[in-house]
Amino acid sequence: MSKQKIYDRIARLYDILDLPFEQGRYKPIRREMFTGLKGDLLDAGVGTGRNFSHYPDSSTVTGIDLSPAMLGRARKRQDKLGAAIDLHEMNVMEMDFADDSFDGVVSTFLCCVLEPEDQTPALKELRRVCRPDGEVHILEYDLSENPWQRFVMKLWAPWVKFAYGAAFDRNTEQYLEAAGLELVEKRFLYKDIIKLLIAKPK
Ligand SMILES: C[S@@+](CC[C@H](N)C(=O)[O-])C[C@H]1O[C@@H](n2cnc3c(N)ncnc32)[C@H](O)[C@@H]1O
Repeated sequence: MSKQKIYDRIARLYDILDLPFEQGRYKPIRREMFTGLKGDLLDAGVGTGRNFSHYPDSSTVTGIDLSPAMLGRARKRQDKLGAAIDLHEMNVMEMDFADDSFDGVVSTFLCCVLEPEDQTPALKELRRVCRPDGEVHILEYDLSENPWQRFVMKLWAPWVKFAYGAAFDRNTEQYLEAAGLELVEKRFLYKDIIKLLIAKPK
């Protein structure tokens, strides 16, 4: 099943299913994800708009997503918050934006969803639309080194693949160089399972 179909299918349940994780894990780290970013920002794989209340003040944000149903949820959230975010249905691997359009590019839990063969094309696009002095911030899961936590994550993996088309072990940092990006920081923000990658155009 395509990623678009997977997310169109889960869109109406997405926020409810994610609520315990949003409250317990993601909420505190989303703001940190935007530290150091300002100006024109791109939120790639914007989903239902969980990042909306965490964007830095005075930034101008554009969000893209493959799934019309997820974008529908994002538009409802946007109306509720009175936020001004420019939302577009678009594939991260072929975006309609001109080169160097954004000061900062973020993706939260998008790379976990991209198949290994799609990582480099997607990262190349993120790099292309990022200005030479800008930054790309990527938040993604990693498989824990803790045996118990790792075991639990492996139990969850089939559900995560079925429901979200995602995996915990994409290790996106391995594709950065081929995409013309240089890893400048890698930091775990929740245990050793959610990490922030900061990369700059080479
Ligand atoms: C796990 S969700 C994360 C949503 C949101 N960023 C968040 O933090 O809650 C992944 C999102 O990426 C979108 N997505 C998957 N593949 C994509 C692609 N090739 N281009 C654009 N969006 C994509 C999905 O539709 C989904 O909304």
